[in-house]
Amino acid sequence: MVFLTILLFSYLQMSQQIQKTTANSKEMISNPRLIPVHGTLNIVRNQNVTLSCHSDSGSPPVRYTLFKHNQKVSTLNRPDLTPSLFNLTINSANDVGEYKCKAENNISSGGKYSNSLNFTLLEPVSKPMLSSPTAQAKKGQNVTLSCLSENGSLPITYIFFRGRQSISPPVKMQKREAAVIFLFINSSSDFGPYKCRAENSVHNNTKYSNSFNFTLAEKFKSTMSSTGFTSTTNAEESEDYVIYAEIEPVKTEEYINFSAIRREDGKAEERACATIYSKAIFRD
Ligand SMILES: *[C@@H]1O[C@H](CO)[C@@H](O)[C@H](O)[C@H]1NC(C)=O
Ligand SMILES: *[C@@H]1O[C@H](CO)[C@@H](O)[C@H](O)[C@H]1NC(C)=O
Ligand SMILES: *[C@@H]1O[C@H](CO)[C@@H](O)[C@H](O)[C@H]1NC(C)=O
Ligand SMILES: *[C@@H]1O[C@H](CO)[C@@H](O)[C@H](O)[C@H]1NC(C)=O
Ligand SMILES: *[C@@H]1O[C@H](CO)[C@@H](O)[C@H](O)[C@H]1NC(C)=O
Ligand SMILES: *[C@@H]1O[C@H](CO)[C@@H](O)[C@H](O)[C@H]1NC(C)=O
Ligand SMILES: *[C@@H]1O[C@H](CO)[C@@H](O)[C@H](O)[C@H]1NC(C)=O
Ligand SMILES: *[C@@H]1O[C@H](CO)[C@@H](O)[C@H](O)[C@H]1NC(C)=O
Ligand SMILES: *[C@@H]1O[C@H](CO)[C@@H](O)[C@H](O)[C@H]1NC(C)=O
Repeated sequence: MVFLTILLFSYLQMSQQIQKTTANSKEMISNPRLIPVHGTLNIVRNQNVTLSCHSDSGSPPVRYTLFKHNQKVSTLNRPDLTPSLFNLTINSANDVGEYKCKAENNISSGGKYSNSLNFTLLEPVSKPMLSSPTAQAKKGQNVTLSCLSENGSLPITYIFFRGRQSISPPVKMQKREAAVIFLFINSSSDFGPYKCRAENSVHNNTKYSNSFNFTLAEKFKSTMSSTGFTSTTNAEESEDYVIYAEIEPVKTEEYINFSAIRREDGKAEERACATIYSKAIFRD
């Protein structure tokens, strides 16, 4: 009796499955979904993208067709319900959109259409320009630095550096306007070198600006010559010194401040190694 019950139960289950399979083979295809496989619709020119078109239900085989601006791009046949992958290269503004796909099987007449997709073409940032309206500065002066990328999709985020050290929080610009910082020139290292960096939502495309130095505005016309000035630091490295002289009268004495900044050419990021030499000259 128990055996018979099990047999009957198994038979019922089997027939149910057969019915289901028979129903499946006649199932209409569902509306497919069109999605970018890499997950984002923001892309750069000449980027290769893969679009996936997929119906969740319907009896295979399935024929998928991709459309751009209602025009057929290509057709793929799938023997089962796995997604079909369309590979595209976005070269121009015309390739940006509007994409749709269609799924068809033998039961559906005319097929079913997917959602539409439009890509957004992003432009990488160009090398930013670092500049200042006050090229010459002296100690105790307030100066400004401006950083601007001529090209690149907005928003653009800028960061300012002195040597290798960042001297500003990230400045996010929603308009094509320069990011500006204010500086107080307090010591010889405040003369530079400065750089700025720009980036936007295009991945892996950070750009550094030109290097910028403020030159010292001399307080007096100096007839001083920098010849004869010798370095007392290690002469092993081949060093190229930039010498600034500042002369300030103190009663009858004159102080001469030299600042020697080592130049390290051929490096992407300059490091200012400033040494200040001081010498008092007494006039008779
Ligand atoms: C994009 O695809 C084309 C053709 O399939 C190929 O020639 C090109 O190198 C690919 N570009 C990138 C950036 O992968
Ligand atoms: C698209 O590229 C994927 C791999 O990125 C590949 O599996 C697929 O077959 C390609 N589709 C076509 C139609 O070439
Ligand atoms: C429809 O069915 C016929 C015969 O069974 C088959 O040859 C054809 O490939 C099918 N078409 C599609 C779109 O599934
Ligand atoms: C794609 O762009 C077209 C035409 O500009 C527009 O009609 C459609 O609504 C857009 N689709 C999406 C999903 O943004
Ligand atoms: C910005 O784009 C224009 C037009 O494409 C180009 O002429 C110019 O050289 C670009 N500027 C920079 C800094 O790359
Ligand atoms: C520089 O700016 C600061 C505040 O921004 C101000 O307190 C100071 O007086 C300014 N100095 C000069 C020389 O303008
Ligand atoms: C200028 O430098 C001196 C000594 O390094 C420091 O005490 C002072 O706070 C600085 N002033 C400003 C405005 O940064
Ligand atoms: C960024 O670019 C560098 C060099 O062009 C490359 O080696 C690296 O794999 C890229 N990283 C990403 C996340 O694309
Ligand atoms: C700024 O000064 C540094 C250190 O002296 C030097 O390496 C760099 O070339 C200078 N940059 C410019 C643009 O003059």
